[in-house]
This record gives sequence, C-alpha cells and structure tokens, in this order.
Amino acid sequence: MALLPILCYPDARLHTVAKPVSAFDHDLEVLAKDMLETMYDSNGIGLAATQVDVHLRLIVMDTSEERHDPWVLINPEITEKSDEMLIAEEGCLSVPGIFDGVERAKEIRVSYLDLKGERHSLHATELIAVCIQHEMDHLIGRVFVEYLSPLKRSRIKNKFLKAQRHNTTP
Ligand code: NI
Repeated sequence: MALLPILCYPDARLHTVAKPVSAFDHDLEVLAKDMLETMYDSNGIGLAATQVDVHLRLIVMDTSEERHDPWVLINPEITEKSDEMLIAEEGCLSVPGIFDGVERAKEIRVSYLDLKGERHSLHATELIAVCIQHEMDHLIGRVFVEYLSPLKRSRIKNKFLKAQRHNTTP
C-alpha cells in the first residue's frame, strides 16, 4: 500500500482523457487499493485515477458516514440521467480549499466493471450521483472549476499558480 501524489490544478495532466481499463490484473488491484488509501488519507469522498496521473478509466469512492464502504468503478458509463438537476457544493482533492456549486443530474444509472471485470449497474441519487459525475468528469479531463464563471475560474487559477510559484499551499 502506498499514498500516491495528487495532481493539483491547474496541472495540464488533469486534462488528459483516460483510456478504458483492459487488464484486470494484480497491478489494477494495487492501483485501486493505493487510490483508496490516498482518498481516505486526504479525507476525500472520491478520487479518479487521472488525479494520481494514471490515465485509466477507474474511480474510487466512499460516501458513507463511517468511511468503510469503499467502491471501485471501472470503465463507468452513465446509461440514464434524470432531467431533474440539482446544485450541490463540490470540492476536489486536486483543487484544495475551493468549494462551489455545480449543476448536475439529480439521478443517474451507471454501468461499470468491478476489479474482476464483472459488469454491474447502479442507480444513484443526490450526493452519490453528484460524486460519480464529478469523478467521471476527471476521466475526460474535466475539473469542476471549469463549470464556474470565467472570472471565478481565473481567480482560482491565479491563486494556485501563485501558490505554486511561492511553493506554498494556496
Ligand atoms: Ni475531483
């Protein structure tokens, strides 16, 4: 087990489009375990492989209060989306300290594979639906701040670039 470094916005690697997972092997299990450990260590509820600079379609999540219900979703695809939307305040381990509202579908159905390559389908609402959509965006190179107004986004970008120049946390 190992903690993985998380890419920080506006790192260009966060805009990489991930490839589908094709090998369901030991390396994939290790990656999922390390991502979960990294997510728990950072008190996050979700982490996409993109954020640890691995460009495969894999996300891990745990939205339980007790924090012992780890989910691993491989090659996830949204198969149904409600017309009803909701705006929830989102944060991201790649954009630490920034929280803002993003409009998402309130309910979704997701088809995905587990670590053995077996297919499952799940219906998610509210926080879980938001989290899955947020993490799946990472897999197509999209960070949640891209939904904010250009003014907000450039403020956030400048804040993080400045912090990186001074080698401090934003
Ligand atoms: Ni995120």
